[in-house]
Amino acid sequence: MRVSDPLSGRTIALCVTGSVAAYKAAILARILVRAGAKVLPVMTASGARFVGPVTLSGICGEPVASDMWDASFAGELHVSLAERADLVAIVPATADVLARLAQGRADDLVTALALCARCPVLAAPAMHPRMWGHPATQRNVADLAAQGRVVLVGPVEGEVASGEVGTGRMAEPEAIASAMAALFSPRDLSGMRVVVTAGPTLEDIDPVRFIGNRSSGKMGFAIAARAAARGADVTLVAGPVSLPSPAGVRRVDVRGAMSMRAALWEALGPDLSRADALVMAAAVADHRPANPSATKLKKGDEPSTLALVGNPDLLGEIGAARAGKRPVLVGFAVETGDQDALVAYGRRKLAEKRVDLVVANQASDSFDRDDNRATLVTEGPPEALPAIPKTRLADVVLDRVKALLRLQAH
Ligand SMILES: Cc1cc2nc3c(=O)[nH]c(=O)nc-3n(C[C@H](O)[C@H](O)[C@H](O)COP(=O)(O)O)c2cc1C
Repeated sequence: MRVSDPLSGRTIALCVTGSVAAYKAAILARILVRAGAKVLPVMTASGARFVGPVTLSGICGEPVASDMWDASFAGELHVSLAERADLVAIVPATADVLARLAQGRADDLVTALALCARCPVLAAPAMHPRMWGHPATQRNVADLAAQGRVVLVGPVEGEVASGEVGTGRMAEPEAIASAMAALFSPRDLSGMRVVVTAGPTLEDIDPVRFIGNRSSGKMGFAIAARAAARGADVTLVAGPVSLPSPAGVRRVDVRGAMSMRAALWEALGPDLSRADALVMAAAVADHRPANPSATKLKKGDEPSTLALVGNPDLLGEIGAARAGKRPVLVGFAVETGDQDALVAYGRRKLAEKRVDLVVANQASDSFDRDDNRATLVTEGPPEALPAIPKTRLADVVLDRVKALLRLQAH
């Protein structure tokens, strides 16, 4: 069983340059450290005016390097960092540092390090949309692309520090971390088309009230992120969650079970031929209000009992429609009973919904957590896994999907 995180044991030189988004570099450093990476913080003089070096050295457990001319360092600091790093990540990357990188300048530690690096260099631009859209920046970005030495992550569209909206906002730390993980991941799922569902469905009672559940979407998003990092073509059908889109994933946002059903069939195709695998990590509501109100129900108008109708069983109807063994179907089962009840429920789901694998977990082990303790239920003996981060469980599930697809090919 593979449970190691692709970032675990990697040495990452995290270079912070002078943008307001620099505070997010501290969040990224925390994510990387938690994933088991060694983070060597590096800052430009401007970067150090936005976040305190003490913050970064505190998170990373390493001194901040910022001065190439530091005589107390025996040797050449930029060369030494370049030798140690498995990845040089410039987060955030200013318009100015992109210009310096494009020109191959080396008059500060970050650019000298990037020029000296043998490992991949990643940059996450962050700037006002007019700076990003300026022909000079776009020419620098095109030059960097032509050189093929710097992987850019973002920028994305959204609100920037000035409050204006446009393309220039830095990609979220989680998305940058998954792009980093992708650089260290085997592309063993390339060519595989995966559809993943994630999050809860919300079933409206009226325009302001709904029936929902506690699914955070983290498990499905982790599966989508890891599948994309490993080279798969991924469509993520997401219920209402406030999670950033993983890098390289096609995301379709939905609200209720009926809209998830429509998006799912669209992604799979009427004959299920558009996907090689479906991973149903979403917690789809079993029922929805029978008569949702188009206007807000006023105090006293609300019925004391709510009439419900059953939602379709999304995974069950796909299992029933599947003629052969494609797409591979993975379901999730959440229980609140003991381990025996969990396995029994998983087995029932496996048979009733005609799926290939059920990932069974206790609600208390999974909901809104970053890790999960799951039991894999197939036709063979159940396999209880230890509590592991959801990104690692995602890799385990994808390894199984890959094995099932390989079995069918023979
Ligand atoms: C308050 C403030 C915010 C800034 N935000 C950005 C930014 O988001 N993106 C950017 O490219 N430059 C930004 N700048 C300008 C850079 O800090 C400036 O170009 C600096 O020389 C970059 O140095 P560095 O690339 O060595 O870190 C900002 C400057 C200030 C004073």
